[in-house]
Amino acid sequence: MAISPPSNRLWWKQPLHKVELVWITVAFLWGLVMFFMMIYWHGAGGQNLSSEAYRITPAAYAEKAQAMVDAYTVREEAGYPVVRPPPGSDVYLIARLWQWWPILEFERGQSYRLHLSSLDWQHGFSLQPVNVNIQVHPGYEMIVTVEPDQVGEYGIVCNEFCGILHHQMVGKIYVVE
Ligand code: CUA
Repeated sequence: MAISPPSNRLWWKQPLHKVELVWITVAFLWGLVMFFMMIYWHGAGGQNLSSEAYRITPAAYAEKAQAMVDAYTVREEAGYPVVRPPPGSDVYLIARLWQWWPILEFERGQSYRLHLSSLDWQHGFSLQPVNVNIQVHPGYEMIVTVEPDQVGEYGIVCNEFCGILHHQMVGKIYVVE
């Protein structure tokens, strides 16, 4: 049996119905409203982070992080250095398969420039329970200025699937008085 085309044009081809045109117009206008709201929310809602991004090689980033760890480690925890950098300083957090390194300790009410970069491939920085999310790429460093306002223990989970131990890629930030 040969395959032959259908005798009629079966696909849909009709003029736009008025109701559908109205719907498309409403959806389009709403999309525009939401686009400009993104800009508005950045200032008014404090929802979208202000971050800086720079190019950096994984090797150069690892070197900066190591220098910070060497200078400001205060103790060890489960094989991880706990680092307490001086307020106002540049702080380097490494994302790699499959860890956030090192553990950081901040002072409440102080400001820090938190750098984030990956040494291998893409990870996702997700700070819990405050829900701050940043993509972390190799070759780029993202910098966010953080000023923790509550004492406590914060978890970092990886929210970009990065391989077999993705679910174990967790880190920690302490905020102390
Ligand atoms: Cu790193 Cu998922």
